[in-house]
Amino acid sequence: MSSVSSSTSVSRLSAAPARGVEVRPLSPALGAEIHGVDLTRPIDDATFAVIADAWREYLVILFRDQVLSEDDQVRFAQRFGALQGRPRPASMRAETAVKHPEIMLVSNIRENGKPIGSLPDGEMQFHSDMCYIEKPAKGTFLYAIEIPSIGGDTHFLNMYDAYDSLPADVKAKINDRKAVNVFQYGSTSREGNNPNFDEHPHYTHPMVRTHPDSGRKALFVNRLMTWSVEGMDEAESAALLDRLFDHIEQPKFIYEHKWRVGDLLLWDNRCTLHARTDFSDKERRLLRRCVIQGDKPY
Ligand code: OGA
Ligand code: MN
Repeated sequence: MSSVSSSTSVSRLSAAPARGVEVRPLSPALGAEIHGVDLTRPIDDATFAVIADAWREYLVILFRDQVLSEDDQVRFAQRFGALQGRPRPASMRAETAVKHPEIMLVSNIRENGKPIGSLPDGEMQFHSDMCYIEKPAKGTFLYAIEIPSIGGDTHFLNMYDAYDSLPADVKAKINDRKAVNVFQYGSTSREGNNPNFDEHPHYTHPMVRTHPDSGRKALFVNRLMTWSVEGMDEAESAALLDRLFDHIEQPKFIYEHKWRVGDLLLWDNRCTLHARTDFSDKERRLLRRCVIQGDKPY
């Protein structure tokens, strides 16, 4: 990743900066760090406006050195919308020690051989959270509690740029198309050769969606969960999706986040993807996640 260029060091925000609050871009592709906000404290409207503007502009927002309880994290998330519940019933979830039922622990830690959370091990392919339901997640808030010394990085990808840079003929091919997204993966990559619709949640969404706040178009397909294009035969659909995935997953669209304990990241699932790099099963990794509800893509 190239170093910060002059175009990314200038903030292009419309809200008047709240005192002591600073927005610093993280990469040419997307992402910004916000300094000078303690998320355990009430956030005044001017500060919230800066955060909301930065989120719209940079798509992924980082707050470092935060010491957040579950309540603190939930309270902050609720400024952006209502929390999204977990699709799985409580009796089928690994998380037994969380206060809010909407909280997910993203962790490889096991107690008595059983994971204490979800998405435990290793690499994860690029995806958008909950794209297999009718109203996929709007934003995800992930807070780092324990982090391995190497790996387990999260990569974020700008799907506005991925769409804008497609050749015109490909845009024309996908603009009014839909594709089916299926929740059928282990921890890392999709399982099997064909989706099993009887057993796995799935939903058909536009391949290109319009972001309700920015009005911009973003690609809305991903390697982990998008299985096939509606109305195309299998070979044509697979060829088109492979071509799109290869186009999407280019370094120029990506910011690679190396976690530190105390990081809170907020990302927009409507115009970004994220993926996780591999890490050792000998090291512990624990993050706390909540998600806010989104709308039906159009
Ligand atoms: C998630 C997710 C990636 C990570 O919480 O939705 O994809 O780095 N996490 O653990
Ligand atoms: Mn995810």
